[in-house]
Order: sequence, then structure tokens, then C-alpha cells
Amino acid sequence: MADPQQVLSARVRDALGAAFGDGYADADPLIRPSSFADYQSNAALPLAKRLGRPPRDIAAEIIGRLDVSDIAAEPTVSGPGFVNFTLRPGWIAEATTGLLADPRLGTPLAASPRTVIVEYSSPNIAKEMHVGHLRSTIVGDAIARVTEFAGHHVIRDNHVGDWGTQFGMLIEYLFDIGEDAPEAQLLRTDPNAFYQSARVKFDTDAAFADRARERVVKLQAQDDPATQRLWEELMELSRQYLRNTYAALRVTLTDDDIRGESFYNDMLADVVADLEAMGLAVISDGALCVFPPGFTGRDGTQLPVIVRKRDGGYNYSTTDLATIRYRIDKLNADRAIYVVGSDQTLHFRMVFAVARLAGWLPETADFTHAQIGLVLGTDGQRLRTRSGDNVPLSDLLTEGIQRARAILDEVDRDEQDRGLDLDAIAQDIGIGAIKYADLSTARDSTYTFDWDRMISFRGDTGPYLQYATTRIRSIFRRAGIAETDVRGPIAVTEPAERELALKLLGFGAVVTQVVDTTEPHRLCGYLFEVASLFTAFYEQCPVLKADDDETRQSRLALCAAALRVLTAGLGLLGVPIPDRM
Ligand code: ARG
Repeated sequence: MADPQQVLSARVRDALGAAFGDGYADADPLIRPSSFADYQSNAALPLAKRLGRPPRDIAAEIIGRLDVSDIAAEPTVSGPGFVNFTLRPGWIAEATTGLLADPRLGTPLAASPRTVIVEYSSPNIAKEMHVGHLRSTIVGDAIARVTEFAGHHVIRDNHVGDWGTQFGMLIEYLFDIGEDAPEAQLLRTDPNAFYQSARVKFDTDAAFADRARERVVKLQAQDDPATQRLWEELMELSRQYLRNTYAALRVTLTDDDIRGESFYNDMLADVVADLEAMGLAVISDGALCVFPPGFTGRDGTQLPVIVRKRDGGYNYSTTDLATIRYRIDKLNADRAIYVVGSDQTLHFRMVFAVARLAGWLPETADFTHAQIGLVLGTDGQRLRTRSGDNVPLSDLLTEGIQRARAILDEVDRDEQDRGLDLDAIAQDIGIGAIKYADLSTARDSTYTFDWDRMISFRGDTGPYLQYATTRIRSIFRRAGIAETDVRGPIAVTEPAERELALKLLGFGAVVTQVVDTTEPHRLCGYLFEVASLFTAFYEQCPVLKADDDETRQSRLALCAAALRVLTAGLGLLGVPIPDRM
């Protein structure tokens, strides 16, 4: 165990048990980074209340029972009753040398792996993804990667909207123009344009609109082979579009992860019948509804979850109830993380409530909505093109790559960097910038899409972190050593070495935190600190020109450890890293 926070937690826990009895051994040691020392334990404060004694006395008693002499100097009490720890340089050095040799970089493997569904992206098919879906895609992918790395069994689930009234319109339109028409290819490249054309026809041609409505009925009855075939065709073209988009974004979703709304179609009638049989569903205004307790509208009336519309059709909520049942019964989910826009918060709270009422979602299953906030343009309005449309995703990516390329073109390069494939590097930087900007903002807060900020090589940006890794790589190139060949041992003497090493030792704790909270921005914040502390270290501590070989070996090893933490962290976020830039 190399993470100081974990090591200290274990020691304080032992001391609590020894001082106050077994009943206190599982009290939270509350180890936090400290401004008085390296870390502090705040455990004395809540215990003082529980025991009815002054917190400073409790702190002193904890210290009396603490055994940390191998890792830290004698702990001290400060403030209202904090116990302060200053780690021994020798311990930090040894732990950091150990970190460098550890393929998991100090990240614990889940003791009891859980089956975790990560549902993300989930665009409505045959419409171009917009920036809201982009954010869910990027954040969800990071959550999936981090959860997997922590040792859980992750099931990626792309809950695409592939079933619904607009499909009648799209299929009818495809019938009209013919599958082989050049316009049909739009589904592969610019689904929005295809959708718009169909929409125009629907709005202007009454006969077409009637046929489109009949087509929905045929589609949902699933008994007309020609309709089914065209729906399949539509899906295949959409899958190609998604495949290209995910590949461009370096997102891990594949065709196999698509389990769209249509997948649950056969289960909807049972969901509704079971709700009726349990007496949970009642007819209200002609629609079949469940009224979960605790949800009322502004006027105080109970809010319904509609599970069968007045016209007999099932809807979005019915599908989500079937989805919950499937995830619990068939996929054995222990946890499900729905990475979806925050405008659907009420929907999920109500649907989860209904599923709990029906007994389909056991208390032990942790189903949560990981809310995604709005994306705004720099003008504070929803991100739109000049003509007021949603900005197509492909345009965003192209622009990011072009902007990155323009910056690269301005860099002065020395001889050995002249032959670089700048197009490939620009892709990594452009995509990395967009992804990191999304990831580094708390996922539930509104976020402003600002090219100038995200693509900058300075500040908390993707390019800055990418640059930090290329800078470390160049140290190794100049040294003529592969970074994988250094072993240390690492010594910690200078303050900048100490700070960097301590930060590196916290990697595993941050990963665990991201898994628990489903908040990738915590990992971004951590990596930014690592990069900043590395910069300070590199300015203050000569590496290649170190005074003696031992120091040089130690500092090279510290560089290698920082590089490994940065690349592992960016990898978990799904941010691509060019070797040079
Ligand atoms: N397709 C939906 C949309 O674009 C998102 C699906 C969210 N997931 C769910 N299980 N309802 O708004």
C-alpha cells in the first residue's frame, strides 16, 4: 500500500480502537491533505461530540495510541483538535519507487467486483448528435474506463432512441427516395440533413404525412417485412455513422454496446400488465398511469408516470421500466449509471421510484442518474450555428483539429522534430482539447464551449497536459534512455521533489473517488496538479545536469513516475496523447 491517505487511515483506525474500544475502530479517520503538515486527521472532532470530551484531549489520546514512527515524524495537535502528520522523506521515497514498479500505480483492485452498467451517449438515431450527446459520450466513456480499471465488470450500454413516431416518417421517406439514392447516404454522414428533408416533406405534403403515420403502425406491429427491412437499413446506416463518430472521438463504444429502445419492445406489454396486476397503475384521463408517492406538481397534484398513452401506445417511461427489469434480471446489475442530461432528472427519479414500488429494483441495487449539464456558447446561449441550428458534431471536431493545426504551425521546431506528422498530432490535440474541456468541468454544471480557452497550451487544458507528457518524454530522449528502463531508487530531498512525489502517491485514491462519485473532473484536477508540480520540480531540480549520478537516476525515476501517472490518467479519461507535439 503506497497511498499515504490509506496508510494513515489504517493506522488511525487502529489507534481509535485501542483508545476508545472496538465500537470506535470503524469511525472514519477523516484523513485530509493539510496546510499545517502533509496530512491531518479530523477524527477527534466528531468523536468529541460522541464522547462528550474536549476535542484536543481526544486528539492527544489518539496520538498516545498511534504507531506511525516508521512512516512519519511524531504527530502533533493543532487548531481545535487536528492530528497532523509529516511523512518521513525516506518513506515517501520508498513508496514512490514502489509506485514506479507497480502496473496499477497504487490503485487498489475492487475487493468485491460489481456488475456496473454504464449507460451513455444514447443519441436519437437518424438525427445528428448534438453537443449534449457529445458530453454524455465523453463523460460516460471516462466513467466506464475508470470503473473498469478499478476491477469492476462494466457493461457499456448505448440506449439509442431507435423506436418512435418519427421512424414512420423516416422509413416512408426512404421508401420514396429509394435506398440507393445519393440522399440516403446522408444517414451515414449528416443524419440531420436527412431528417430535415423528411421533416419538410412531412410538413408540406399531407398525403406523405398520412402514409408516414400508417407506416408507424406497421412498424410497431412488426408484421410488414418491407417496413422491417427499411428500418433495419436505417439502423445499419446509423450504426455506421456512430461507428465513425466514436472512432473519431476515440470513444470505446462499439456496435455490440447498442441496446436501443427497440430492444425492449417485446417486454413492454408485460411491464404494463404487471403494474396493473399489482394495482399500481390506474387510468387517468384515458392514459394508464402510476403515481409514485412524493412527486407533486406546482399546484400540489400528484404527478403521473404514463406507461400507456391514451392511444394505446407505450412510451419512453415504459421502455425505461422494461430496461430496469432487464438490467436487474438478465444482466445482474449491482449498479447502473445513467449518464444523461440533467433535464431528465425528474423522469429518472420517478421511473426509479416506480421500479422500487413494483419490487423490480431491489434496495441493494444502486441505480443513479449521473447528470450532464447544458453546453452553452460563449454568448451564454445554447450552442448553435449562425442560422440557429444545433452545431453538427462533425463540424466541431473538424474545427478543433484545424485550430490545433494552426497552433502547431507556429511552433519553432529543431531539426529532429521537422519530420513530424502534424496532421496526426493535430487530431490528438484537437480531440483531446474538446474532451478534456468537457471532462474537467463538473459534469452537472453548465459549461461554456470556448475554443480559445480549451485549445490553449496554458492552464487547465488538454493540450497543456499532453504537452507535459511530451516534455517528459523529451527528457528521456535527450538522456538516451527509455523511460521504462529507469528504476530509481527515488530519493526525496528537495521540497519540490517531495511535493511531486506525495501527489503521485495519491493517484489510486483519486481513481477510487471517481468510481464512487462518477465525477471524472476530479481526476482532471488531480492531473493538472501533477503537471503543475512537475513543472515546479523541473524548474528547481536539474535532472540531466544533476550534481551526481545517484541524484540523476533518482530524478529520472521521478520523471518516469510522473509520466506514468499522467499517461495512465489521461488514458482513463480517454484523452489521446501524442508522443511529440
Ligand atoms: N435518447 C435519449 C435522448 O436523446 C436519451 C436516453 C437516455 N436514457 C434512458 N434510459 N432514458 O434524450
